[in-house]
Amino acid sequence: DLPSRVTICEVGPRDGLQNEPVVLPVEVKAEFVARLVDAGNTVVETTSFVHPKWVPQLADAETLLSAIEQSEGVRYPVLVPNERGLDRALDLGMRDIAVFGSATESFAQRNLNRSVDESIQMFAPVVGRAREAGLAVRGYLSMCFGDPWEGEVPVAKVVDVASRMMALGCTELSLGDTIGVATPGRVTALLDALSAAAISMEHVAVHFHDTYGQALANTLTALRRGVTTVDASAGGLGGCPYAGSATGNLATEDLLWQLAGLGIETGIDLDKMVATSVWMAERLGRPSPSRTVAALAR
Ligand code: HMG
Ligand code: MG
Repeated sequence: DLPSRVTICEVGPRDGLQNEPVVLPVEVKAEFVARLVDAGNTVVETTSFVHPKWVPQLADAETLLSAIEQSEGVRYPVLVPNERGLDRALDLGMRDIAVFGSATESFAQRNLNRSVDESIQMFAPVVGRAREAGLAVRGYLSMCFGDPWEGEVPVAKVVDVASRMMALGCTELSLGDTIGVATPGRVTALLDALSAAAISMEHVAVHFHDTYGQALANTLTALRRGVTTVDASAGGLGGCPYAGSATGNLATEDLLWQLAGLGIETGIDLDKMVATSVWMAERLGRPSPSRTVAALAR
């Protein structure tokens, strides 16, 4: 019914910090990544190779990656929207990238300056070249449940774009509830529809933002449906600058508390994560929104 082990994709340094009003010094970001690795994370989404004008918070991607000493057995995926981004990632020897599509036209236009069709066309050579070079390629799909401009997003629309992302050659599909409106019934319906479209749960990750406090329930629902990769951000940092109503991601600590209670292994040390989020909250000047961090912090 439930998996014995779950892989957490820690997105704090990317999804978390991309939405902060302050731009942290690169040394602080590098220490953040190092602390996350020290806590046992094996997948740390580190930054984005996007246009610096679009996401100034991550404009230091090259400097940051040069400042990080990469550990054996740890993956450091980076977001890459186009071939220019891929070239930047390849120049630094990155082994894991993520392209990021949208199930809705409104968000594709706002986030990528492209229609859905045009963004798939933009990703095609990125995924093709990356796979040829032996990289792992995550395909994010945003607005899988609701969209601030279009409202509820039909399952058929999500399955259609998801299938096109997988057909490009993505090795993983991360289902984004960008504005955090999903509830467990919707999660079940989408995962069932993806399974029916021959997308295996082995390749699916879930990416819940916690706007309505449903992220943990949604995650448990996905685990029961066979998903074993879950995105979360330290302390619940996060959001998307191009989707106003987006709040933080599911907090890694909240997820770890739940998984530990269920006897599901992650390899991640909860106390070290709490200490990291308390440390980061001091840097950002506001407390972590995670209930578990609040409960466990001294
Ligand atoms: P555009 O303006 O259409 O770009 O933006 P363009 O292709 O027309 O190029 C214009 C200029 O930008 C050119 O320079 C390019 O070289 C340069 P010029 O010739 O004029 O001097 N350029 C770049 N520079 C550096 N790195 C690059 C790059 N690409 C072009 N990669 C673009 C299109 C995709 C670039 C832009 O829309 C963009 O950067 N978007 C990123 C938005 C973003 O990062 N959003 C947040 C991540 S998505 C998210 O958070 C959701 C997620 O968490 C899942 C969920 O929650 O649902 C993943
Ligand atoms: Mg996100």
